[in-house]
Amino acid sequence: MTAVPLATFLGELESLRSAASAALSAAADASALEAARIEFVGARAGRLKAIQKLLGGLDVADKPAAGKHFNDTKAAIAELLAAAQGRLAGGPSGGVAQGIDVTLPGDRVPLGHFHPLTQTIRRVQEIMGRLGFESVDGPEVEDQWHNFEALAIPAAHPARDPLDNFYLAVAREADPLLLRSQTSTVQIRVMENREPPLRIVSLGRVYRPDTADATHYPMFHQVEGLLIEPGTTMAHLKSVLRLFASSFLGGDVHVRFRPSFFPFTEPSVEVDMEWGGRWIEMGGAGMVDPAVLEAVGYDPDQVSGFAFGLGVERIAARRYGVADIRDFYRNDVRFLRQF
Ligand code: DAH
Repeated sequence: MTAVPLATFLGELESLRSAASAALSAAADASALEAARIEFVGARAGRLKAIQKLLGGLDVADKPAAGKHFNDTKAAIAELLAAAQGRLAGGPSGGVAQGIDVTLPGDRVPLGHFHPLTQTIRRVQEIMGRLGFESVDGPEVEDQWHNFEALAIPAAHPARDPLDNFYLAVAREADPLLLRSQTSTVQIRVMENREPPLRIVSLGRVYRPDTADATHYPMFHQVEGLLIEPGTTMAHLKSVLRLFASSFLGGDVHVRFRPSFFPFTEPSVEVDMEWGGRWIEMGGAGMVDPAVLEAVGYDPDQVSGFAFGLGVERIAARRYGVADIRDFYRNDVRFLRQF
């Protein structure tokens, strides 16, 4: 029997190694890998086993070298197999690490969001900003002048009654401070410090000792708007309110004015908005009263403008379909999560 030439044996080993390398690295799933394992290193009919049988036919002198190459190839294929198994299991950088399969969806860190009233305030600021109204703030603790006097609400006016306001128990008898009862205070503060033309909105908290019910709360929020420009009319006021309401609520919102009275506007109106077939009273508005313009040092013969005040809770409740404004303050995450 002629001996198997060493070169032939080494050639067989080499082609086995490259075929195994190609098959193991191409295996896309566990069953393909298992098939490759059986083909190359299967104990009974594997191709490595077949080559091992050739060893016996080699010349005795060639056997030590042949055996060494055989063992090297066997080890190399074992390594390729282990690498392929690791890759399919995800490997150290992308998969099973300490019992956690990072490829599974898992828990997400719960993301919070702004309170619905804060969302409403920001949205109003954004819409009014597009109409050229700058957003400004004012203090929540006010004096008599800014909350009442300059707004043409005289000392004897029932709106100043201690039972209707949160006066602060500090020693200022002649001019007691109070938690502001309206954001109209900011109109005064802005006009005192700036010259026309003006377009501002101010959103913030106001306080009144009302008993809490579905539509009242001792603390709530208002949007105040003020525009001082030559030639301003009630038609401009209505257009601005309608543009605002249509942007905020979406779709075609109708605005209705009903004659009313506020000390700081003349004429004065109640503002109703119709959306989804229902009319809702949203606040008050009017042309800035000449007495107010005088109080801040403007000349009423030269300057005119409009003002409006809307309830933030009201417009938020309307938009989100909230029936009871107390829900905004209960801090119940099941309610708040819905926004
Ligand atoms: N300040 C009024 C209130 O709290 C609302 C209001 C009415 C504001 C008419 C205005 C306005 O600017 O023009 O009831």
